[in-house]
Amino acid sequence: MAGAMQLPEIRSERLLDNLSTALLVFDDHLLLQYLNPAGEVLLATSAGHACGKSIRELIKNADTVTEHLSSTIESGYVINQRNCRLELPDLRSVIVNCTRSPITLPDQRNGVMLELRKVDHHLRIEQEEQLITQQEATHALLRGLAHEIKNPLGGLRGAAQLLEREITDPALKEYTQIIIGEADRLQNLMDRMLGPNDIPRMQSSNIHHILERVRDLVRVEGDDRLTIHQDYDPSLPELQADPDLMLQALLNIVRNAAQVLDGAGDIILRTRVKRQFNIGNRLHRLVACIQVIDNGPGIDKEMREKIFYPLITTRNEGTGLGLSIAQSLISRHQGLIECSSKPGETVFTILLPLDSK
Ligand SMILES: Nc1ncnc2c1ncn2[C@@H]1O[C@H](COP(=O)(O)OP(=O)(O)OP(=O)(O)O)[C@@H](O)[C@H]1O
Ligand SMILES: [Mg+2]
Repeated sequence: MAGAMQLPEIRSERLLDNLSTALLVFDDHLLLQYLNPAGEVLLATSAGHACGKSIRELIKNADTVTEHLSSTIESGYVINQRNCRLELPDLRSVIVNCTRSPITLPDQRNGVMLELRKVDHHLRIEQEEQLITQQEATHALLRGLAHEIKNPLGGLRGAAQLLEREITDPALKEYTQIIIGEADRLQNLMDRMLGPNDIPRMQSSNIHHILERVRDLVRVEGDDRLTIHQDYDPSLPELQADPDLMLQALLNIVRNAAQVLDGAGDIILRTRVKRQFNIGNRLHRLVACIQVIDNGPGIDKEMREKIFYPLITTRNEGTGLGLSIAQSLISRHQGLIECSSKPGETVFTILLPLDSK
């Protein structure tokens, strides 16, 4: 009730600032008068820079929309156009659903408002939602299974120890040693599968410091033929995270890249800030995007669909838990890990919200 009462008090610019739809307002000469933050992201320019420019300077193939824009101003009708391809000056092309509505500008001139919603944006949200649900289901299953195995395992180990005390024949003792050794190994595996138990100790953390530690650790494990490049965005603010858990998650991903490169190759650690960006169906004002890119052989599509599942490995000495642990640590920070890959370029992308909710 209180929320509903307060709504008229919200300043309309703030609503526009938080909209995920790009809004562009043009005057009757098709010169830009207003651009909201989502519009700045779409056009990759600032409102200050773009306002006053003609639509032709902002959208290379403006002809496909200008005709409709002029007719919107003349007719006063709202026009919708689906799957409209816009060519942007930086050579990107985006597919959008577009709504044009007539608008009266503050100086009483006629204008037109263009609402642009990226189509692939919706697809991405759907895919990410699916990924999050799948990740949650896997982890619930895994934790349940690990608990069920751990209890009888303790009993098994205890019984083997008791038996060992009663046995005098060293040849038979060897068998009880095998049981105890294997029980310990399984216990260890279960503990890793359950992941760290501690409640994350959230604190203001500098992701670049964490990446530097990861870089140092992986470099000492590899040799000189492995280069780890830094491509950091200095404007990335500190984020609320548990630095130890974040280090573990990133280490698992970077270590995989180093292992697949077998000592020789390039890894890029890249950070970027994304504005008005979705993680699943949640829109965040600011999101940290961390990428680990390697120039190794890549992961084929079939394997890519499985790598975040536990126990999936192609390495002889691997347990197949590195990525599933990384994923569970990142989701404890309300984040998401994605992977895209082609031969010569594998990209693991971690998205973490930077705004407190
Ligand atoms: N950068 C990469 N390039 C190619 N394949 C990769 C990459 N990262 C992961 N993989 C594949 O994903 C599999 C799963 O990785 P994950 O870290 O979960 O387990 P692992 O490395 O095999 O074992 P563990 O991390 O438990 O020691 C790997 O075995 C490998 O086949
Ligand atoms: Mg691994």
